Order: sequence, then structure tokens, then C-alpha cells
Amino acid sequence: MELWRDFPWRATRDPWFVLVSEVMLQQTQASRVVGTFTRFVARFPTPAACAGAGCAEVVRAWEGLGYNRRAVNLHRTATILLERHDGRVPDDLDALEDLPGVGPYTARAVLAFAYGRPIGVVDGNVMRVLSRAAAGGALTLWEAQRLADRLVSPSNAWRFNQALIDFGACCCTARAPRCASCHLLEQCRWTRAAAEHGAGTAAPDPAAPTRRRQGRFAGSDREGRGRLVGALRLAPVPARAVATTAGWPDDELRALRVAEALVAEGLASWREGALALA
Ligand code: ADE
Repeated sequence: MELWRDFPWRATRDPWFVLVSEVMLQQTQASRVVGTFTRFVARFPTPAACAGAGCAEVVRAWEGLGYNRRAVNLHRTATILLERHDGRVPDDLDALEDLPGVGPYTARAVLAFAYGRPIGVVDGNVMRVLSRAAAGGALTLWEAQRLADRLVSPSNAWRFNQALIDFGACCCTARAPRCASCHLLEQCRWTRAAAEHGAGTAAPDPAAPTRRRQGRFAGSDREGRGRLVGALRLAPVPARAVATTAGWPDDELRALRVAEALVAEGLASWREGALALA
């Protein structure tokens, strides 16, 4: 079983390259990002090159990824980097979260992957691995973030986080985890719970998605999205309050996914750690 994928953004620690890759990876599968990423950073190797180009040119270079609003935001971000940060990507969580289109996940990914800061990077893959193997029960995003921050290797945050993403993508997959050949089998809390459950009976999957009725409004993503947009019309919603505002206090990952979709569609943006109407 292959547990490591060689992506072009893993061959660099350049903060601009890392930021570009993480924005591209927000809503798009890694395998689909490779070609566009390589062409994009060759065309715009620095924030200055990106800010100096027209927005339309940046959107054209985004071809193949969709959610073009991300390209518009990246162009605005490049301009802000020139105006406020000497053309560099800041090494600071608050300053990163102030950039258009940069949410709590992307800001942490830049800190860990570009600057080697000992911070956990919790995407959907990592959330699944932590819930199953480390916690043996469902985690909220904040619990997962705290756990990841505790577990992360202080001397090699880059490798720890990239490895955990790939472990989730290649072994501890959502629908068909490869437990039989898993290197964490002996430590895995979910497997231990399964053993205690009795031979032949599966313990409930800690990472199982909460059941949602298709097509029904009640309990749907659209319902939470509606609540969020309703609240945003009144005032920005701090990142920490997004889950409660969406009506899912126990499912922050889902709430943040819906929030990121609003950002990708250009309806909202992250500003100073809060989600605001664009
Ligand atoms: N998804 C988000 N960040 C990623 C990364 N650095 N590598 C692969 N997939 C990712």
C-alpha cells in the first residue's frame, strides 16, 4: 500500500507556492490540482508577479479548477501582500486569516508547510484518522485541532502533517479503510473498540458522517447555509461561532465546509478571523 504521494507542492517550502497550493486544494482533489499548480507558479512565481498581472489573467491561469472566485481572492491577496507585508506571505496566524479567501485551515497549513511551525493541519483526512485511531470517538473540529497540536512533531511539523493527510487518503479512507494492512492497527482505538465489541461485529465508525436525508431541507447543508447567511447579513461571524450559528454545534467540520463553500462562491470571505459577507 502506497502511503506517500509526491505532489509538486511538496518539493518546495516557498510560502507563496504553499499558499497557492493550499488555496487550490480547498475545493479540488489533489490529483486535479497538479497541472494547474505547476503552470500557475511558473507564470506567477511571486506575489509581485501575481499582483502585477491583471485579475483576468490570473483567473485564466486558474483554468481547470473551478470556483474561480478563489483566483480573484488570490489576486487580491497578492496585492495585499505587496502593500502590507513587503511582498511576502506572513508567518502569523492572524495576519494570514486576514487575507481574502484564507480561512483557519489554510492559514495553519501555510504555517506548518512553509514555516515548519508545530501546528496540526486538520483537513477531512486528518479528522478521520484522529477520530478513529487516536480518539476512538467522534471529535469536533476544535477537539481535533487541539489533539493534532498536541501530537504534532515539534521538529518536523511538515512531514507529520503531510504524512497524516496521505495516511487518511490512502489507508484510513472514508468508505473502505485498509485495516488489514494498517501500520497503526495495534494502537488504533477504533480497532480496539471493535475487538471489545466481540468478534465479527463492527464497532461504529467514529468518523461516520452524520446521517443526512437527501432532498429534505430539514437537516440539510442548505439549512445550515441559510442560517449562516442569515446571521452574516447582520454581522460577521467569528470562526469559533460558525458551527453554532449554522445549527451544528457538534459538527464543526461540516459547518466550516459550508462556510468555505460560501467563500469559494464569492458570497463570503474570511476577515480578521471572522466570516463576513463579501
Ligand atoms: N489537501 C490539503 N493540503 C494538502 C496537501 N498538502 N497535500 C495533499 N492534499 C492536501
